[in-house]
Formats: sequence, structure tokens, C-alpha cells
Amino acid sequence: MSQRLRPVSPIWVAGRPQHGEEEFFVTHPFDDSPVGATSWATAGQVEAAVAAAAGAAAECAALPAHVRAEALEHVRRRLDEEAETCAELITAESGKPIAWARIEVRRAVSVFRWAAEEARRFAGEVQRLDTDPSAEGRLALVRRFPRGPVLGITPFNFPLNLVAHKVAPAVAAGCPIVLKPAPATPLSSLHLGALFSETDLPPAMLSVLPVPNHRAEQLVDDPRLPVVSFTGSGPVGRQILQRVPGKHVTLELGGNGAALVAADYPKRDWAAERIAMFGNYQAGQSCIAVQRVFVEAPAYADMASRIVEQVKALPSGDPNDPSCKVGPLISAEAAERVQSWIEEAVDEGAKVLCGGGPRQGALVEPTVLADVRADAKVLREEVFGPVLVLASVDSFEAGLAAVNDSRYGLQAGVFTESLPQAMLAHRTLDVGGVVIGDVPSFRADQMPYGGVKGSGIGREGVRSAMEDYTVERVLVLPEAL
Ligand code: SIN
Repeated sequence: MSQRLRPVSPIWVAGRPQHGEEEFFVTHPFDDSPVGATSWATAGQVEAAVAAAAGAAAECAALPAHVRAEALEHVRRRLDEEAETCAELITAESGKPIAWARIEVRRAVSVFRWAAEEARRFAGEVQRLDTDPSAEGRLALVRRFPRGPVLGITPFNFPLNLVAHKVAPAVAAGCPIVLKPAPATPLSSLHLGALFSETDLPPAMLSVLPVPNHRAEQLVDDPRLPVVSFTGSGPVGRQILQRVPGKHVTLELGGNGAALVAADYPKRDWAAERIAMFGNYQAGQSCIAVQRVFVEAPAYADMASRIVEQVKALPSGDPNDPSCKVGPLISAEAAERVQSWIEEAVDEGAKVLCGGGPRQGALVEPTVLADVRADAKVLREEVFGPVLVLASVDSFEAGLAAVNDSRYGLQAGVFTESLPQAMLAHRTLDVGGVVIGDVPSFRADQMPYGGVKGSGIGREGVRSAMEDYTVERVLVLPEAL
């Protein structure tokens, strides 16, 4: 289906709309049609944005909470008013099914609402110091102050909401932010730049700069951006960490999310439906998509057939169709890679329970595999595609160990109704979040979100990101002046 071509989107340099050096088309992953265009920021525009952010840091830090909160509320309101246009934009540039794009916009609205609330709430604490004789007569005021301008680098899979997760907490905490969106999906973030330009914030508070990935080092290295908040691939995240060890770096690097189903879990239809859906939503292109499924042996055969039935029933194809649940991957190259991983697993003996057919352009057939070798890429690496790998485990404890047998640790889902099992999972699983009675893909935008091991460093979620963007400073006061 051919898409409406939008006017060329300006880039945002310290809050001002500009055009860069070379225009490029943004294309729809489903049919490669051009859906919009923008331009790459020049080296001079990057310099202007960074210099303005550094120059405005003190002013932004001193902005009263009500000014920051009102600006965030304005953006929340405008996103809400324009929800359908924003959803269409997300689908056009990322190929995400429109139903999921609408959910993404609603989530971004909630991120800005939370950020407005947190901007008002973020106050620090008073600590008593008279717990020891040496500090009698004193108390401490512990407040957090901005570390300085933030560099936000965002991925293609949530072109609006993962941008909201960088920008909204930065504004709420009083930090200017320079945002580099994913080259494949810059349009939603540029639209956000336009909404911010309607606020009373200092213009230098936000720059949105499409920059090709090979030029991102200029931004990462710049000492005037002391905080780097990156969401994307593991290799790039690790390179950033090594490059700028003196900076405050937060990394959200993905995972190979697992779900564990207890033998006596009574709602098997629910578990199967959720696993099928969230192994395949956004064609599996979410860091917390279900990839590995471990089922206690007595329930395995039954769960496997329910999951396969649910996966086969998922409507896939044109993401503009409101009933579509599984759309294309971001590109034909990405689909090619996922396809090759499936083929590799099958060549090594994996059984195809459904799917596995040849890709069509960027569309990969939702695929369920069993009997997969322990070292297969579809099990060990992050697939970022519509692939589920099923395995039987001998006990609940063995299932927990299987979930932990990963170099990632983002979130895990555990289908159990036993409180002791839920508590055991929480204690045992080496991940950033455990979801009981649902898939690892559950995320409420205000909760701390992030991983351990290869999944990253630091936490997002509005409040957690504000803590990352700020640093504690203590004021010790005498009780009587
Ligand atoms: C991600 O893919 O890292 C984000 C998942 C989400 O926000 O739901």
C-alpha cells in the first residue's frame, strides 16, 4: 500500500527548526514506499546544539518545577490530541502494526504525565544525623542536582515512546538533552521536537538531530554532554562504555526474554495466548519480547500445542490494517538475518512446530521451534524477530536455572499462582524485573526498567531516569543556626 508522503521534517537545533546538509527519505518497511523525509544535521548544527545545551545547563537546572511540569503537560496534551496522527507516523516509519502504534502513543502520553508529576515531586529528603554522638545537633538535606546535558540515543523499535523515556525525565530533572534518533525512524522524534517548540522552556533544552550512526562518536566523545543514555545493541553499548569511561553512561541493551510456566498453572489458555502474542508483537522487535519458553514437563505437550495454535491464529501482514498483529521487521536485511538464524537452528536438528517459511521482503513468518541446540543463536542471542523457542524442564527450580542460563538479564515472566514460587523467582532470577502471571514483555512506564549482565546498566522509568540524570549533593546543617 502506498503511503502519504509528508512534507520534509525540519531537524531541531537548540529548539529551532532547521534544515541539514542532505535530505533523505524515510521508507515504510512493509513496501519500501517513501513516507517522509528529513535531513542529516551538519557538523556545525551538532556543534551549535551541544554548545547551546552546555550554555543553558545552569538556566535549565534552575527552572522552577512548575515551568518544567507545565511544559511536560503541554506535550502530554498535544500528543493526546494528535494521537492518531502520531500512531500513523510510527507505523509509517517503523512498520509497527497500527494497533501497537496506538498503544505506543498512549504509553508516551503516560510517560509525559508521569514526568510532569515527578517534576513537581522530586524534592530530596531530610536525614537525621544524631544517630551517633559525633553528629548530634546536625541534620542533612539530601537533594539531587542535574549532572548536566544528556545525550540520548534511541532505537527504531519504539520511535516515540523510547524517545519519550529519554526526553521527559531530562526535562523533569532540569537537564538539556540532545537526542539522536535511530536513522530509520527519525520522524516521530522530530514531531516531538515541534511539540516542545510550543512550550516556554529555554529553546536549548531540546535538540533532535538525525545523525548517521558513523558520526555519533562526535556526540558521545563531547565532554559537554556528561550523561549518555543509550538504548540499542549490545556491541554499540559496550563500545560507548569503553570510549567514555569518565561519563555517566546508562545502557539498555536488550535481551532474550524468557517465560516459565509452572506445571500446575491453571490458566493455560491465557499463558499460551500471551506467549504467542508477545513473542511476535512488533515482529518480536522488543527487548522484552518472549523468545525462550520453559514449561514444566507435565504441562509441556499441552502448552506447546496451545502456543502453536495461538501463533498460527495471529493476523500478520500489512501493518496499516487495524487487525494486523504481526507486521514486517524494520528492513529486509533484518528479516534475512532472522531467517538465517531459524535455518541454522533447523539445520542443527531443531523441530519446526509452525512457521519457518521463506521471508517475504521484511516479513518473517511467526515461527515456533523445539529441540533447539543449547548453543543455537535463536536461543543464546537476542533474535529480535518473531521466533519462539520451546523447551521442557524437569522442575520449577530447573526452569529458573534455564531462565538464568543467558548472558542477558532484562525481564522474565513466570506463570504461577503459588506465592512461594513467585517469591523464589524474584529472589533467584538474575534480571531487572520479574512479572508473575504474565510475559516478560509487560512494562508499565513508571516502573524501573533495565537489565543486568549483558542487558545493560542503569534503569529507565521516569523516576529512575531522573535519578540517573542527577547526582546527590548533601547539605549538612546545624539544627540551631
Ligand atoms: C524495549 O524494547 O527496550 C522497550 C520495551 C517497551 O518499552 O515495552
